[in-house]
Parts: sequence; C-alpha cells; structure tokens
Amino acid sequence: MAGKTDNLLAILRAQPVVPVLIVEDARSAVPLARALVAGGLKAIEITMRTPAALEAIKAVAAEVEGANVGAGTILNSRDFDAAVKAGSTFIVSPGVTRGILDAAKASEVPLLPGTANASDVMVLREEGIDVVKFFPAEQAGGAPYLKALSSPLAGTFFCPTGGISLKNARDYLALPNVICVGGSWVAPKEMVAAGDWAGITKLASEAAALTA
Ligand code: 3PG
Repeated sequence: MAGKTDNLLAILRAQPVVPVLIVEDARSAVPLARALVAGGLKAIEITMRTPAALEAIKAVAAEVEGANVGAGTILNSRDFDAAVKAGSTFIVSPGVTRGILDAAKASEVPLLPGTANASDVMVLREEGIDVVKFFPAEQAGGAPYLKALSSPLAGTFFCPTGGISLKNARDYLALPNVICVGGSWVAPKEMVAAGDWAGITKLASEAAALTA
C-alpha cells in the first residue's frame, strides 16, 4: 500500500493542477495531451464520461512522451480494470464503494477516491488511504470547508476538484491538507473542438505556475 501511495503522491505533487478532461473524440486526445504536457501539466485525468475515453487513454499512454495519464469518473470495478488495462497510471473516482476499494486493493495502480465528508475520510483511513479527492469542491463548501477538516483529519491530503479555476485555485493550494487541485478549465470544450493547442498550452502554463 505504501508504495502505491508514494507513487500517487509523486504524480500529484509534481504539479499544482491536474487537468480533468472529457474527451468526445479520441483523435483529439493525443494533441490535447501534448499541449498540456508542453505547458507543464504531465499528469492528466481523462474521465470515463464518453465512449471515446478508453481509446483516448490508450492513445495518450502509448504516444505522448512525458504524460502520466489517469482515468477519472471510475464508478465500478469493471471500469477500474478496463482503465488500468488501457494504461492508466492512476484512477480517480467521485466517491467510495466497496467494489472500487476491492479493485484498488487488488491492483498496483493507485486510487484517488472522492469524498466530501468526514465519515468517508474515516472509512478510507481504515482502508489505509490518506490521499483523496475532495469533490465537488466548490459546491460542497469550498476552501473554508476543507480548512475545517484539516485539524480533526490531519494526515489526510486532498486534491479538490469541481468548480475550481485560476481565480480560486490559490485558496485551496494555500491549505496545509491540499496537495494539488483538479479542473477542466485548462482544456475548454471550444478550444479542444477548434484544435487550439497553442491556446491550451498557454492555459496549462498559467496553471502550472500557480503557487499558494
Ligand atoms: C471532476 O470530475 O473532477 C470535475 O468534473 C471537474 O470539475 P470542473 O469541470 O468544475 O473543473
């Protein structure tokens, strides 16, 4: 378990922002990932919200040098296994289920499970998991909520996602229990559809330069 957690921490600590991608067309995945990597964001989460997701993960894992591709929106063990097979180096889920936890236990690939409450965090700690996603961050109470969890749940570290942008990312990054944030703002739908890779590299560079 310790090895997996270390791997996950190494991936997430290397950059302040993890792009959260909804890839509609698998053909855009490789240029999109290259644009993000060029801007300094190597860890990339491709969500399983579209039929193109698995193919996109496979293509990025095989073709984009320097990228660390993870799979997001994993809702069950079947998707967990398929995402790992496609080449995901980390797995993100919006919540916690027994099935996901068991799949994670049986895998060498680390899981970043989602939670927005203290009880889930406590359940995860019993499972040996102390690196989690805080989701949906803004809607669940934002940085003040997460700050309130930092003292009673010291030792658990969060990657908040949901409603985060360049404007409010620093509020989270300044907290002692936050290791990075995630968000879709670095790859807007319109820019992806237009193939504006230079524009996306610029957004990625701005995000990569964020500090608390
Ligand atoms: C996620 O899955 O983490 C969120 O959908 C990302 O939220 P955002 O689109 O508000 O950045």
